[in-house]
Amino acid sequence: MQRIITINIKRYDPETEEVSISAYKVETEQDATILDILNFLNEHKQAAISYRFSCRMSICGSCGAMVNGRPTLMCSTFIRDLPDEITVEPMRNFPVIRDLVVDTDNAMDKMRDALPYTSFVSKKSKKPIKQTPEELEKLKQTSQCIKCMLCYSACPVYAVDEEFIGPAATATAYRYDQDTHDEVKEERMDSLTSKDGVWKCSFVGECSDVCPKNVDPALAIQKMKIMGVLHTTKKLIKPSKSKT
Ligand code: SF4
Ligand code: FES
Repeated sequence: MQRIITINIKRYDPETEEVSISAYKVETEQDATILDILNFLNEHKQAAISYRFSCRMSICGSCGAMVNGRPTLMCSTFIRDLPDEITVEPMRNFPVIRDLVVDTDNAMDKMRDALPYTSFVSKKSKKPIKQTPEELEKLKQTSQCIKCMLCYSACPVYAVDEEFIGPAATATAYRYDQDTHDEVKEERMDSLTSKDGVWKCSFVGECSDVCPKNVDPALAIQKMKIMGVLHTTKKLIKPSKSKT
């Protein structure tokens, strides 16, 4: 079924530093996505809108934007679920480079604090580490993260404090902590329980609401808080030996 919608797109020109809104009336199919509409405008209306996308199927995590005030993937946001007037803006909480393209480096850098790597051969025993299907199942949900950064865009703590480790990095840390191949738990917990770690989360839960892959980063943060208490208590009871 065809429908006529009005789409308002927030623009930013870094050369002139001018912010503006481009409005278009478009006749479209109900099954079109916001990404389809932007591609149509660039291909047929010479709109020259800047935005990122690649896979068109909720896999690459590159097409995030605010659609009617909500962080979402443009490739999986359908016209049929939206009103006749639609506003598309760059993802909140990130510096805008041009139009809908934002700089997510600050949030991406936090992934390093999650120590997101494993070894299939134990560094201690030098033998392969086996994993059962049940053990693998424990990682499944948090492994789905596509690093789209919608959760950082929705997070009220990250909005005012960009040092906060944030939702996706903590969910990633939880994923690796649960992995039987993991051998760096203590180091990871040190960074997760640092002053910019999980304690800053105020448990609003917006991160999980907007996550397109049901990773549930809010739950991962609360689990990491519990593990953080145990980690910190253990360190207080058994402080590491100081070098003489
Ligand atoms: S946790 Fe969800 S919202 Fe956050 S980066 Fe991963 S997939 Fe995106
Ligand atoms: S284009 Fe890849 S997630 Fe949308």
